[in-house]
Amino acid sequence: MGGMNITSAKFIKGITTAEQAFTDELFQIAVVGRSNVGKSSTINILTKQKGLAKTSSFPGRTQQINFFLINNKFYLVDLPGYGYAKASGAQKKLMGDLITDYIFSADYRLKKVILIIDAEIGPTPADMDMLAALEQINVEVIVAANKVDKVKKSILKKQLDSIKEAVSPHVVMPYSAEKRQGVGELSNLLTV
Ligand code: GTP
Ligand code: MG
Repeated sequence: MGGMNITSAKFIKGITTAEQAFTDELFQIAVVGRSNVGKSSTINILTKQKGLAKTSSFPGRTQQINFFLINNKFYLVDLPGYGYAKASGAQKKLMGDLITDYIFSADYRLKKVILIIDAEIGPTPADMDMLAALEQINVEVIVAANKVDKVKKSILKKQLDSIKEAVSPHVVMPYSAEKRQGVGELSNLLTV
């Protein structure tokens, strides 16, 4: 299998209602996950453009759905995170609705979803709910276990095994956006 060699990546637009999503013939690959899990960092590392997607150590950084055009061929889509406990009720509902509307009521070509989880924490109930919902629609899901650099080496294998068991039969890709481990392998899975 040939890997995805990203040669160009451009920010095209950010949207605040799902109706504004692109409906052209290009495929979309959405990056989904809890707030602060590293969705935007992952887009930057995959595209090798440091500041392309805005990141922050504070949860709730991404508040719109951002479309990045890759190789003039498909869109990589950065979503806001779910499950940020400190967000106001209204804000949570707004972001939750935006994510749900985009993923589940779309009339465009959503090809894959990269569901990012925290390798140290493992899949949370919110992650498992998202996974169950994604299984209801016809989309390929890749479970990307980010921040492996935070997991003690002595328990890494056990931790990854337990993540694999929890999300089976979906593919689990362990990596670290921060330390750039496993990023090539993740990139290979993007081939559209
Ligand atoms: P929201 O937009 O708020 O939903 O967050 P996000 O999922 O886009 O996370 P973002 O990429 O902004 O990263 C959140 C924090 O996690 C930042 O402080 C990153 O530096 C950090 N981070 C991302 N990837 C890794 C990683 O592999 N290891 C470690 N240790 N930290 C990481
Ligand atoms: Mg973000």
